Amino acid sequence: MKKIVVFASGRGSNAAALLEACRDGRIAGEPVLVFSDVPGAPVLAKAAALGVPQAALAPRDFPTRQAYEEAVIRILADYAPDLICLAGYMRLVGPTLLSAYGGRIVNIHPSLLPSFPGLHAQRQAVEAGVKLSGCTVHFVDAGMDTGPIIAQTAVPVYADDTEDSLAERILAVEHATYIEAVAGVCRDEWEIRGRRVWRRIGREGGDR
Ligand code: GRF
Repeated sequence: MKKIVVFASGRGSNAAALLEACRDGRIAGEPVLVFSDVPGAPVLAKAAALGVPQAALAPRDFPTRQAYEEAVIRILADYAPDLICLAGYMRLVGPTLLSAYGGRIVNIHPSLLPSFPGLHAQRQAVEAGVKLSGCTVHFVDAGMDTGPIIAQTAVPVYADDTEDSLAERILAVEHATYIEAVAGVCRDEWEIRGRRVWRRIGREGGDR
């Protein structure tokens, strides 16, 4: 059973979806901690309600990002995670955390990457006038939403969409997409080869 730590900064609907999927067996993982960079973030109460330990550290209490990430790593050491799931974690993962957990961090982003990385992905999509957007689950590398892609789900974008209406339509597919991708990670299904993520096992027709 993989030990999972979920990182989140806010509301935590993706975090809660992952925790619930672990609880009912859709993900063969054990959520050992929910970590937030925002003390008091609603996600921490959601974790408490689901019986998952929580921790929070505010970056402003540390002089540098390196010092912050070193403190985060000290917390994580007690939980020995196999996998870190970023779920609305509004912070770029720096080299310190990446060197400790590189290849074992995944993220969900509310666009079809590589379109619209970074903040306000749904607003970017509406303003660009695209007809399709969606969500992407990817391994985390040093860039902003640039790592190898595990899974994507598309939704339509309508001419009268607002940032909020599109965000709602995308969120409706995020949870299932993230659960399925993380379930695969926990089964060691995904293999990263360069930019591409291959499914090692478990699908008829072989390696794709
Ligand atoms: C989601 O849209 C996620 O894709 C993005 O931030 C949002 C977090 O929502 N990274 P929630 O906190 O999971 O409800």
